[in-house]
Amino acid sequence: MRKTILALPKNCVLGPLVALLERAGITLDAPVADPGLRRFRLPTSDAELEVVLVRNWDTVTLLEMGAAHLAITGSDVLMERGSRGVVPLLDLQEGRCRLSLAAPAGPWPPAAPEPGARVRVATSYPAVTRRHFRERGVEAECVVLQGSVEMGPLLGLGEWVVDIVDTGRTLREHGLVEVECIAQVSACLVAARTYHECRPDEVDRWRSLLEGAVLAAV
Ligand code: PRP
Repeated sequence: MRKTILALPKNCVLGPLVALLERAGITLDAPVADPGLRRFRLPTSDAELEVVLVRNWDTVTLLEMGAAHLAITGSDVLMERGSRGVVPLLDLQEGRCRLSLAAPAGPWPPAAPEPGARVRVATSYPAVTRRHFRERGVEAECVVLQGSVEMGPLLGLGEWVVDIVDTGRTLREHGLVEVECIAQVSACLVAARTYHECRPDEVDRWRSLLEGAVLAAV
């Protein structure tokens, strides 16, 4: 029997995703909340399923390279990376947040740039950012940072920021305000395109199992 490999993101959504898997009757063979955990390949209570823990951005790479069959990843990653080699299966309704444009707070609320403007933006999402501004006739130069993007304006790395906003606390603490929501974000179940084509019954089984767990939480 060939096991199905599911890539999970090692970030703050991991806890809720493990709880979702538990509602689907699947437990992991390790305490993933333990910061000392160094194992990244974990058996599960389902003999047909193995989990690998990776960075959120790497989930799609594993699917595209055939190293995993299924993944749970943020819709923001799919938007940025594109989903050529993967098939989105299900919105898991966990890790909800938004991808937003923000700018330093001033005496007046900042307005979105006008068509014809050129802007510099600190972001981990250069493709989404360029696309968003291009559609509005604005040329965006992106300064790509892998984290702590909100420090961009403070350090002169860009007058605008495109990043994930959840509670809004990080923006506030850096003197920034949200100008525009670019996209709502949540965790999604996705399949490698080849797995989806070659083993559709298995894909259906996992999708239905997790769909039941999503509905059980409503
Ligand atoms: C994300 C995002 C913001 C923060 C927003 O960072 O990049 O920095 O959460 O959350 P808030 O609106 O509740 O303050 P994350 O913690 O995922 O780490 P990162 O800096 O590595 O992206």
